[in-house]
Amino acid sequence: MTVQIAPSILAADFARLTDEAAAVAAVADWLHVDVMDGHFVPNLTIGLPVVEALLKHADLPLDCHLMIEDPDRWAPGYAEAGARNVTIHAEAARGPVRTLRAIRAAGARAGLGINPATPVEPYADLLPEIDMLLLMTVEPGYGGQPFLDLVLPKVRRARKLIAGHGTAIWLQVDGGVSEETIGRCAEAGADVFVAGSAVYSADDPAAAVRSLRSLAERASGR
Ligand code: DX5
Ligand code: ZN
Repeated sequence: MTVQIAPSILAADFARLTDEAAAVAAVADWLHVDVMDGHFVPNLTIGLPVVEALLKHADLPLDCHLMIEDPDRWAPGYAEAGARNVTIHAEAARGPVRTLRAIRAAGARAGLGINPATPVEPYADLLPEIDMLLLMTVEPGYGGQPFLDLVLPKVRRARKLIAGHGTAIWLQVDGGVSEETIGRCAEAGADVFVAGSAVYSADDPAAAVRSLRSLAERASGR
C-alpha cells in the first residue's frame, strides 16, 4: 500500500483556486474536488464548469467526489472532461454498475463512496467495477467536522474485503482527517487520505501535507 494525500479544495479560498492548488502541487498526489448539489447533501459548491477550469490550471490530477443526486446522469461528464478519478455515492446511484463502467470507459478511475451509516458488505460484489472505495468519516456536506471513530471498524472490514478480492483497489477516507486522526485511519487500512481543513487552515499547506504523509506512513508500517 502506498500512502496518497488528497487535499480538499473545499477548505481553500474559492476565489484563488489556482494559487491554492499550486500551494500543494509539489507534495500532494491528488486535488480532491467536492461537488455538492444542495440535494444529496445540504450544501452547494461547484460543478463541471469549475472543474473544467481547474483542469486547465491545476498541476495535480483531480479526484472528483460527487455528492449529488442522479450521479448516473452527471458522473460520466466529469470523466470525459479529464478528471482522473470520479467517485459516485452508493446511496445516490440507481445504476451503479452502468455508471462506474461509463466512468472507466471515459478513461478515469471509478470510485464508490459510502456514508458513515451505510454498511460496506452489500457492495462487495461491486469491487470488480471500482478502482477506489471511499469511506466517509463524517456525514458528507461540510468541511471542518469532527472525525467519526465509529467508521474505523468498517475501514478494517473494507480492507479485508479488498484483500480477499485480490486487486489493488485503493481505500480512501474523507472527513476530519488530521494529524491527530490520520494514524488511526492508516492503521485500520486506509491508503488514500483526503484532508481539507488540516491542509488549508495550516499556515503552510505544503508542510501540512508532508506531515500527514509521514504520520500515515509510520502508522501503516512503511
Ligand atoms: C465533506 C467532504 C470532504 C471535506 C473534508 O463532505 O467530502 O472532502 O472537504 O474536509 P475536512 O478535512 O475539513 O473534514
Ligand atoms: Zn470529499
